[in-house]
Amino acid sequence: MTVNKRYPLMKMNNVSVTFGFLEALKHIDLSFYPGEILALVGDNGAGKSTVLKVLAGLYQPDEPCSVEHHGVPTQINGIHDSRELGIAAVFQDQEFCDNLDVTANLFLGHEMKDELHRIDIRRMEDEARRVLAQVSSPIGLRKPISTLSKGQSQMLAIARTLLDDPDMILLDEPTASLSVTQTAEVLTYIKKLRSAGKSIVFICNTLPDVFAIADRIVVLRHGRINGEHLTSETSYEQIIAEIAGVDSGEFGNESGFLSTKSRLNDQRKLIDRDDSPATESGPAEMHFSASDDAL
Ligand SMILES: Nc1ncnc2c1ncn2[C@@H]1O[C@H](COP(=O)(O)OP(=O)(O)OP(=O)(O)O)[C@@H](O)[C@H]1O
Ligand SMILES: [Mg+2]
Repeated sequence: MTVNKRYPLMKMNNVSVTFGFLEALKHIDLSFYPGEILALVGDNGAGKSTVLKVLAGLYQPDEPCSVEHHGVPTQINGIHDSRELGIAAVFQDQEFCDNLDVTANLFLGHEMKDELHRIDIRRMEDEARRVLAQVSSPIGLRKPISTLSKGQSQMLAIARTLLDDPDMILLDEPTASLSVTQTAEVLTYIKKLRSAGKSIVFICNTLPDVFAIADRIVVLRHGRINGEHLTSETSYEQIIAEIAGVDSGEFGNESGFLSTKSRLNDQRKLIDRDDSPATESGPAEMHFSASDDAL
């Protein structure tokens, strides 16, 4: 594995999050590295989204400053703070304003203004073209958002995170309800972000997608870490067993498991294999292939 393991970008030290009587996260120790895709998996309610929301500043750990940024204990009090730290997030059920076009939705709440404080459409469209080119997504800038496919909306949500050139990108089930081809596009794109040295946290319960791109897999169960592995050193059986909280031997002969395995092979064929993780000598160049005509 070529990820730089020496200096975590972010670190959770014994993070717990309690809602009333419910302990959503219990004593989580987790490091996040540049140039790495970390997959968070676990059953419904395991605490995956809560981890992301702590990093994004939407939920506060019970113990103040139990999150470190570049080794410095930090209080992240909201999206504004996390943006300042170079963290961007795409949450589950990303919402857009149906009555606005693609550009307006990209900049919602962060519109660019000219010197007279008027909204600067031309500058916003230039910037929109730049970020959409990065996700290789041929989406017309003036299209009403309601005309986009599910996959295009997902790409737009990811593109929106790139406006601030973040160091860390949090993705909560970005491939949920996408077609096979759209999923492959999103996964290929996530790999490009890794090559550019970004730290990616990828929540996903589709194990073929996880095994196709993640460098490290962390299993959450009932708010605790129930397993942490380099993808190259673990197996489907082990991850499924840790998600379910049972012995991995119980999954060895299941036909469902075998069909999942063959899906993994199909997924790997679809995703661009030329890409490789960033090395310690520095992130690789990003190459994009968007068609300008479409913008
Ligand atoms: N704002 C909140 N108030 C109260 N309880 C919450 C809140 N947010 C999350 N929880 C609870 O914390 C636990 C973890 O929730 P979380 O959303 O992190 O799970 P998850 O692993 O993302 O699940 P899913 O796969 O369904 O998205 C759940 O029991 C959930 O009901
Ligand atoms: Mg969730």
